[in-house]
Amino acid sequence: MRFLVTAGPTREPIDPVRYLSNRSSGKMGFAIAAAALQAGHKVTLISGPVNLDPPRGAQFISVSTSEEMFEATDRYVRNCDVLVMCAAVTDYKAKNVSPGKIKKRDANFSLQLVPTRDILGSLAKQDRQFLVVGFAAETNDVEGNAQKKLRDKNCDIVVANDVSRANSGMESDENEVTILFRNGEKEKFSRTSKQIIARELVKIIANMREKCLTKKM
Ligand code: C5P
Repeated sequence: MRFLVTAGPTREPIDPVRYLSNRSSGKMGFAIAAAALQAGHKVTLISGPVNLDPPRGAQFISVSTSEEMFEATDRYVRNCDVLVMCAAVTDYKAKNVSPGKIKKRDANFSLQLVPTRDILGSLAKQDRQFLVVGFAAETNDVEGNAQKKLRDKNCDIVVANDVSRANSGMESDENEVTILFRNGEKEKFSRTSKQIIARELVKIIANMREKCLTKKM
């Protein structure tokens, strides 16, 4: 199978020295890429700025902004069997990026923000042949919000995690997730390493793909 995995945060510039971003480390996405390679799959990994070495054997594409991540994902999605959208795409960007450094003044300052393009939402809606796995980092009503995302973003699987908990989720080496499926089924993983979650997720995706292909024959 050919996996396309996105990882890490995006950076949305405000001026030449400042940007909007989030705390995503890229660890979960890189672990999924490594687990897919280990299982014998082909992997393209598109990542925002992170402090991690790409797994050996992956085709690696480094991006910075959400628009760059959209363009790369849109380009490589045509050749994949599964899109795993693990990146924490920054939700808002500056309406106007200042060409010069914004001067500090002794007064309140407001910045006008506009939503970034929803990469997952726009790619998963197309008439598609590939499986789509989304991620949902939530701080309240984790499963309810993730179920809504599964439907609204037309995913086959959503991996939900509670990022309000310490030592789990963003930046951590461990995660605690619930994997939600379209048919309403779910599978919970209590706190464990991102490597173990990644291995299980790759197995689940491979089984699902196998079932889809059998159905079509
Ligand atoms: O809406 P929310 O950001 O919580 O959705 C999370 C899922 O959507 C993740 O899979 C993330 O990679 C994807 N996403 C995206 N483009 C955005 C925001 C989120 O593809 N602009």
